[in-house]
Amino acid sequence: MRLVNFIKKQCELGRPAARGLIAAGRVWVDGNQQRDGGFRVTPYNSIALDGELLQRGTPCYLMLHKPEGVVSATRHPDHTTVVDLVPAELRAGLHLAGRLDITTTGLLLLTNDGFWSKQLSRPENKVAKVYRVATEYPITAEYVQQFAAGIYFGYEDMVTAPAHLELLGECLARLTLHEGRYHQVKRMFGYFDNPVRALHRERIGELVLDPALAPGEYRPLTAAEISALSPR
Ligand code: URA
Repeated sequence: MRLVNFIKKQCELGRPAARGLIAAGRVWVDGNQQRDGGFRVTPYNSIALDGELLQRGTPCYLMLHKPEGVVSATRHPDHTTVVDLVPAELRAGLHLAGRLDITTTGLLLLTNDGFWSKQLSRPENKVAKVYRVATEYPITAEYVQQFAAGIYFGYEDMVTAPAHLELLGECLARLTLHEGRYHQVKRMFGYFDNPVRALHRERIGELVLDPALAPGEYRPLTAAEISALSPR
Protein backbone atom coordinates (compact mmCIF):
# COMPACT_ATOMS: atom_id res chain seq x y z
CA MET A 1 0.00 0.00 0.00
CA ARG A 2 1.18 3.56 -0.74
CA LEU A 3 1.99 5.72 2.29
CA VAL A 4 -0.59 8.32 1.28
CA ASN A 5 -3.32 5.67 1.27
CA PHE A 6 -2.14 4.31 4.61
CA ILE A 7 -2.34 7.78 6.21
CA LYS A 8 -5.67 8.49 4.54
CA LYS A 9 -7.15 5.29 5.96
CA GLN A 10 -5.54 5.37 9.43
CA CYS A 11 -6.33 9.03 10.04
CA GLU A 12 -9.65 9.04 8.20
CA LEU A 13 -8.59 11.95 6.02
CA GLY A 14 -9.06 12.95 2.44
CA ARG A 15 -6.18 12.48 0.01
CA PRO A 16 -5.08 16.18 -0.02
CA ALA A 17 -4.94 16.29 3.80
CA ALA A 18 -2.96 13.03 3.92
CA ARG A 19 -0.55 14.34 1.29
CA GLY A 20 -0.20 17.56 3.31
CA LEU A 21 0.85 15.70 6.47
CA ILE A 22 3.45 13.71 4.54
CA ALA A 23 4.78 16.78 2.67
CA ALA A 24 5.09 18.65 5.97
CA GLY A 25 7.49 15.97 7.23
CA ARG A 26 5.16 14.85 10.02
CA VAL A 27 5.19 11.19 8.97
CA TRP A 28 8.08 8.90 9.89
CA VAL A 29 8.72 5.40 8.57
CA ASP A 30 11.17 3.17 10.45
CA GLY A 31 12.64 6.19 12.21
CA ASN A 32 13.12 8.26 9.04
CA GLN A 33 11.07 11.20 7.88
CA GLN A 34 9.22 10.09 4.75
CA ARG A 35 7.96 12.87 2.47
CA ASP A 36 7.10 10.63 -0.47
CA GLY A 37 3.41 9.72 -0.43
CA GLY A 38 4.11 7.06 -3.07
CA PHE A 39 6.45 5.17 -0.69
CA ARG A 40 5.26 1.56 -0.45
CA VAL A 41 4.56 0.42 3.10
CA THR A 42 4.28 -3.16 4.31
CA PRO A 43 3.29 -4.69 7.67
CA TYR A 44 7.03 -4.74 8.51
CA ASN A 45 7.24 -0.91 8.58
CA SER A 46 6.84 1.10 11.77
CA ILE A 47 4.91 4.25 10.91
CA ALA A 48 4.48 7.31 13.13
CA LEU A 49 2.67 10.63 12.84
CA ASP A 50 3.93 13.49 14.98
CA GLY A 51 5.83 10.95 17.09
CA GLU A 52 2.77 8.79 17.72
CA LEU A 53 2.97 5.23 16.44
CA LEU A 54 0.24 4.37 13.91
CA GLN A 55 1.65 0.95 13.09
CA ARG A 56 4.26 -1.08 14.89
CA GLY A 57 6.13 -3.07 12.21
CA THR A 58 5.87 -6.85 12.48
CA PRO A 59 9.22 -7.97 13.90
CA CYS A 60 11.40 -9.82 11.41
CA TYR A 61 14.42 -11.98 12.31
CA LEU A 62 16.30 -13.80 9.55
CA MET A 63 19.38 -15.98 9.32
CA LEU A 64 21.23 -15.78 6.03
CA HIS A 65 24.00 -17.93 4.60
CA LYS A 66 26.18 -15.11 3.32
CA PRO A 67 27.97 -16.01 0.11
CA GLU A 68 31.36 -14.69 -0.92
CA GLY A 69 31.36 -11.44 -2.91
CA VAL A 70 28.28 -9.94 -1.24
CA VAL A 71 28.71 -6.94 1.06
CA SER A 72 27.38 -6.67 4.61
CA ALA A 73 25.46 -3.45 4.05
CA THR A 74 21.92 -2.38 3.28
CA ARG A 75 23.00 -0.45 0.16
CA HIS A 76 26.07 -0.36 -2.04
CA PRO A 77 26.75 1.39 -5.35
CA ASP A 78 28.76 -1.47 -6.91
CA HIS A 79 28.04 -4.71 -5.09
CA THR A 80 25.09 -6.91 -4.24
CA THR A 81 24.28 -6.49 -0.55
CA VAL A 82 22.99 -9.09 1.89
CA VAL A 83 19.69 -7.16 1.99
CA ASP A 84 19.38 -7.58 -1.80
CA LEU A 85 19.22 -11.34 -1.15
CA VAL A 86 15.89 -11.15 0.68
CA PRO A 87 12.54 -10.32 -0.95
CA ALA A 88 11.58 -6.64 -1.19
CA GLU A 89 8.57 -7.02 1.14
CA LEU A 90 10.87 -8.08 4.02
CA ARG A 91 13.35 -5.25 3.58
CA ALA A 92 11.49 -2.55 5.51
CA GLY A 93 13.74 -1.37 8.32
CA LEU A 94 15.92 -4.44 7.87
CA HIS A 95 19.47 -4.06 9.10
CA LEU A 96 22.42 -6.25 10.00
CA ALA A 97 23.11 -7.65 13.44
CA GLY A 98 26.88 -7.78 12.90
CA ARG A 99 28.90 -7.80 9.70
CA LEU A 100 31.15 -10.11 7.74
CA ASP A 101 33.85 -9.08 5.25
CA ILE A 102 33.01 -9.37 1.56
CA THR A 103 35.13 -12.53 1.25
CA THR A 104 33.75 -14.15 4.44
CA THR A 105 30.89 -16.64 4.21
CA GLY A 106 28.44 -18.03 6.73
CA LEU A 107 25.94 -17.02 9.38
CA LEU A 108 24.63 -13.48 9.25
CA LEU A 109 21.58 -12.14 11.10
CA LEU A 110 19.17 -9.56 9.72
CA THR A 111 16.35 -7.92 11.64
CA ASN A 112 14.13 -4.84 11.82
CA ASP A 113 14.33 -4.97 15.64
CA GLY A 114 16.96 -2.42 16.62
CA PHE A 115 16.86 -3.31 20.31
CA TRP A 116 17.56 -6.98 19.60
CA SER A 117 20.46 -6.28 17.21
CA LYS A 118 21.99 -3.74 19.58
CA GLN A 119 22.08 -6.07 22.54
CA LEU A 120 23.62 -8.82 20.39
CA SER A 121 26.54 -6.60 19.46
CA ARG A 122 27.12 -5.18 22.98
CA PRO A 123 30.65 -6.29 24.00
CA GLU A 124 29.51 -6.76 27.63
CA ASN A 125 27.01 -9.42 26.49
CA LYS A 126 29.97 -11.48 25.23
CA VAL A 127 27.99 -13.42 22.63
CA ALA A 128 30.30 -16.11 21.18
CA LYS A 129 31.02 -16.00 17.46
CA VAL A 130 32.51 -19.16 16.02
CA TYR A 131 34.55 -19.16 12.79
CA ARG A 132 36.16 -21.86 10.69
CA VAL A 133 39.45 -20.50 9.40
CA ALA A 134 41.67 -21.82 6.62
CA THR A 135 45.14 -20.31 6.43
CA GLU A 136 48.04 -20.19 4.02
CA TYR A 137 50.62 -21.66 6.43
CA PRO A 138 50.36 -24.26 9.22
CA ILE A 139 48.74 -23.24 12.50
CA THR A 140 50.77 -24.30 15.55
CA ALA A 141 50.12 -24.77 19.26
CA GLU A 142 51.75 -21.37 19.81
CA TYR A 143 48.70 -19.75 18.21
CA VAL A 144 46.41 -21.46 20.74
CA GLN A 145 48.34 -19.94 23.66
CA GLN A 146 48.70 -16.51 22.07
CA PHE A 147 45.02 -16.24 21.14
CA ALA A 148 44.03 -17.27 24.69
CA ALA A 149 46.42 -14.66 26.15
CA GLY A 150 45.29 -11.91 23.74
CA ILE A 151 46.88 -10.06 20.85
CA TYR A 152 47.82 -6.40 20.95
CA PHE A 153 45.99 -4.30 18.33
CA GLY A 154 47.99 -1.09 17.90
CA TYR A 155 45.31 0.86 16.07
CA GLU A 156 42.83 0.51 18.95
CA ASP A 157 45.61 0.28 21.57
CA MET A 158 43.96 -2.73 23.18
CA VAL A 159 44.52 -6.42 23.74
CA THR A 160 41.96 -8.85 22.31
CA ALA A 161 39.80 -10.77 24.79
CA PRO A 162 40.75 -14.42 25.41
CA ALA A 163 39.81 -16.47 22.33
CA HIS A 164 39.59 -20.23 21.98
CA LEU A 165 41.37 -21.87 19.05
CA GLU A 166 40.78 -25.50 18.17
CA LEU A 167 43.13 -27.05 15.60
CA LEU A 168 41.24 -29.04 12.95
CA GLY A 169 44.02 -29.65 10.44
CA GLU A 170 47.43 -28.35 9.46
CA CYS A 171 46.00 -25.12 8.04
CA LEU A 172 42.48 -25.31 9.44
CA ALA A 173 41.08 -24.23 12.82
CA ARG A 174 37.91 -23.23 14.64
CA LEU A 175 38.14 -19.90 16.47
CA THR A 176 35.69 -18.65 19.10
CA LEU A 177 35.62 -14.91 19.78
CA HIS A 178 33.53 -12.91 22.24
CA GLU A 179 34.04 -9.57 20.55
CA GLY A 180 34.00 -8.26 17.01
CA ARG A 181 36.78 -5.85 16.07
CA TYR A 182 37.33 -4.77 12.46
CA HIS A 183 38.86 -7.70 10.49
CA GLN A 184 39.53 -9.31 13.86
CA VAL A 185 40.20 -12.87 12.72
CA LYS A 186 42.46 -11.82 9.85
CA ARG A 187 44.39 -9.47 12.12
CA MET A 188 44.85 -12.14 14.79
CA PHE A 189 46.34 -14.53 12.24
CA GLY A 190 48.22 -11.56 10.80
CA TYR A 191 50.11 -11.42 14.11
CA PHE A 192 51.79 -14.65 12.89
CA ASP A 193 52.08 -13.37 9.29
CA ASN A 194 49.72 -16.13 8.28
CA PRO A 195 47.13 -14.96 5.71
CA VAL A 196 43.57 -16.21 6.08
CA ARG A 197 42.56 -18.02 2.88
CA ALA A 198 38.93 -18.71 3.81
CA LEU A 199 36.74 -17.60 6.67
CA HIS A 200 33.30 -18.95 7.50
CA ARG A 201 31.07 -18.08 10.48
CA GLU A 202 29.42 -21.22 11.82
CA ARG A 203 27.67 -19.97 14.93
CA ILE A 204 26.53 -16.91 16.94
CA GLY A 205 25.75 -17.72 20.58
CA GLU A 206 23.61 -20.87 20.52
CA LEU A 207 22.52 -20.28 16.93
CA VAL A 208 24.17 -22.54 14.34
CA LEU A 209 23.95 -21.81 10.60
CA ASP A 210 21.23 -24.09 9.23
CA PRO A 211 22.99 -26.67 7.01
CA ALA A 212 19.90 -26.71 4.75
CA LEU A 213 20.68 -23.14 3.65
CA ALA A 214 22.82 -22.92 0.52
CA PRO A 215 24.98 -19.78 0.12
CA GLY A 216 22.65 -16.86 -0.60
CA GLU A 217 19.61 -18.48 1.05
CA TYR A 218 17.85 -17.25 4.19
CA ARG A 219 15.12 -18.37 6.55
CA PRO A 220 13.20 -16.78 9.43
CA LEU A 221 14.44 -17.61 12.93
CA THR A 222 12.15 -19.76 15.02
CA ALA A 223 10.69 -18.32 18.24
CA ALA A 224 13.10 -20.52 20.23
CA GLU A 225 16.08 -19.21 18.25
CA ILE A 226 15.03 -15.58 18.75
CA SER A 227 14.66 -16.01 22.49
CA ALA A 228 17.94 -17.97 22.77
CA LEU A 229 19.69 -14.85 21.45
CA SER A 230 17.66 -12.37 23.50
CA PRO A 231 18.73 -10.85 26.83
CA ARG A 232 17.55 -12.75 29.89
N1 URA B 1 36.98 -11.34 11.30
C1 URA B 1 37.42 -11.02 10.06
O1 URA B 1 38.60 -10.79 9.84
N2 URA B 1 36.51 -10.96 9.07
C2 URA B 1 35.20 -11.24 9.24
O2 URA B 1 34.42 -11.18 8.29
C3 URA B 1 34.77 -11.57 10.54
C4 URA B 1 35.67 -11.62 11.55
